[in-house]
Amino acid sequence: MNCPSNIFLVGLMGAGKTTVGRALARRLHLEFLDCDQEIEARSGVPVRTIFEVEGEAGFRARESAMIEELSARQGIVLATGGGAVIDPANRRLLHERGITIYLRARVEDLYRRTRHDRERPLLQTADPLARLRELLTVRQPFYEEVAHLILDTGEQGVPRLVNRIERELEQLRGAPVP
Ligand code: S3P
Repeated sequence: MNCPSNIFLVGLMGAGKTTVGRALARRLHLEFLDCDQEIEARSGVPVRTIFEVEGEAGFRARESAMIEELSARQGIVLATGGGAVIDPANRRLLHERGITIYLRARVEDLYRRTRHDRERPLLQTADPLARLRELLTVRQPFYEEVAHLILDTGEQGVPRLVNRIERELEQLRGAPVP
């Protein structure tokens, strides 16, 4: 791999992509972007409304266009939506245009962190824990395929995770992170 300056975070809903991504960007002096927030800023409505009006397919089209655009930038940390890895074209871009990190978490922890959420359309079901399990089964191979690094998030707080990522990035790049 040459040394791409971008870092992309992937993982299921509740994995901490936005929180960790923001802290990592601060640490590495990179710009932080969140794919869902960019989609919301452009469309002027929440993700939930896009799902209601255009269905999941409409949202995925917007998501793919946003990934194509944002991944072409330099020097960013990008938190992607949990389903961004479904599209093979997205996976290729994420793998080629940056270092992609899979924040892996136990499904029980994902559930704990998302159970009061009303903004994620895919979790508004009678049994969100079962839904998370299903999504993980389908997506896990995609997360693993696209990732250059896999990090188990576990119980550790954000600063420790950021330290670990920084060390892993140094190893991957073969030099201290500037
Ligand atoms: C989705 C995850 C969400 C958001 C949308 C769909 C998914 O992002 O993109 O609700 O398919 O897993 P987060 O992973 O940031 O919650």
